[in-house]
Amino acid sequence: MDERGRRRHGGLNQLACPAVHPLVHAALVACVLAFGSAIEVLPEVKLDGLIRSKFQGKVAAVTGGASGIGLSLARRCLRSGMKVVLSDGNPDLIDKASLQLKQENLEGFCTLRADVRDPDDMASVLRCCQENFGRVDIFFNNAGVIGEPDKGVLDTPLESWKWILDTNVVGLINGMQTFVPYMEKQGFETHIVNTASGAGLYSQHRATMGPYVSSKHCAVVLTQAMKVELAQRNSSVTPHLLCPSVVATPLVPNSRFYLSNIRALDNELDPISKQFDERLNQDGMTPDMVADLVLQAVVEDRFLIMTHPEITEKRITSRYHELKQSLSEQPNTGY
Ligand SMILES: NC(=O)c1ccc[n+]([C@@H]2O[C@H](COP(=O)([O-])OP(=O)(O)OC[C@H]3O[C@@H](n4cnc5c(N)ncnc54)[C@H](O)[C@@H]3O)[C@@H](O)[C@H]2O)c1
Repeated sequence: MDERGRRRHGGLNQLACPAVHPLVHAALVACVLAFGSAIEVLPEVKLDGLIRSKFQGKVAAVTGGASGIGLSLARRCLRSGMKVVLSDGNPDLIDKASLQLKQENLEGFCTLRADVRDPDDMASVLRCCQENFGRVDIFFNNAGVIGEPDKGVLDTPLESWKWILDTNVVGLINGMQTFVPYMEKQGFETHIVNTASGAGLYSQHRATMGPYVSSKHCAVVLTQAMKVELAQRNSSVTPHLLCPSVVATPLVPNSRFYLSNIRALDNELDPISKQFDERLNQDGMTPDMVADLVLQAVVEDRFLIMTHPEITEKRITSRYHELKQSLSEQPNTGY
């Protein structure tokens, strides 16, 4: 089976993985038996039909919408007849994205520069939705930065740590606190999709990028916490948590736009950042495919959205073993 086929039919394969702990395996098998066969990636035509039947004429807002996954989410929504408010912190990227969407004959969108770190900017994004389209049906809380891929927890300057956490964590919180109360007040069913990362689900396994991985762990936990809060008050807002793994986007060069506002940068990328950028863009899933997976999960009301279930399963299983091993090494305290 080719790579695309493997992605489309990965659901059942993962159940046969011998590295999985027997208890985890049994739980997965029980889920499949209880809920029917593993979910398959929908063909585009069927997905388009489902999105149209649920969301045609409705409104999506996306942060970090001028590039990569955010731009593909905007495109997917527009293609299925939705209106879109596309915001981003980089004005040049917004101009490029706007031109690109127009060249694809897509219409029904408006754009604005908004920095997710700034609550006033997030309020402007919401106002833009209200004034242009009168409602919000799906909010993609997506903007993010990779930070400095060649640095770790110990050598990342504090100002850079603050930038990463401010974007990937406080930015998400700003989005949630601005959009969720408004969407609840509307009184009809809506969705919020927080973009975290596969890196937020398992242990750090490289000597650099600790700040990024830490921020994405936080993004996972705060989205799970929001899910519990929304369920407790029987909210009309359905939360989703996107954990992509390797996606072909300009995440590395785009992040430098923001870092360059903190301090002067060398023109050349350092070798580790360059290598990471190449890995994303040579091995990565297309952002359009990620957008399809996200919209499928939204129409199916699934919370966790993982783009690479096989890799993710191996890594969370290895984390499980790591924790289990550490537990077995603890003195028995009687508690
Ligand atoms: N590409 C991957 O492999 C991958 C993997 C896991 C998670 N992610 C996450 O996916 C999300 C989208 O990233 P992408 O890969 O599409 O990269 P990208 O750089 O193409 O898109 C990110 C967008 O966010 C914008 N942005 C950054 N800081 C911002 C700010 N403060 N305010 C407003 N906009 C801001 C950028 O200008 C850019 O347009 C990010 O949260 C990223 O961490 C990406």
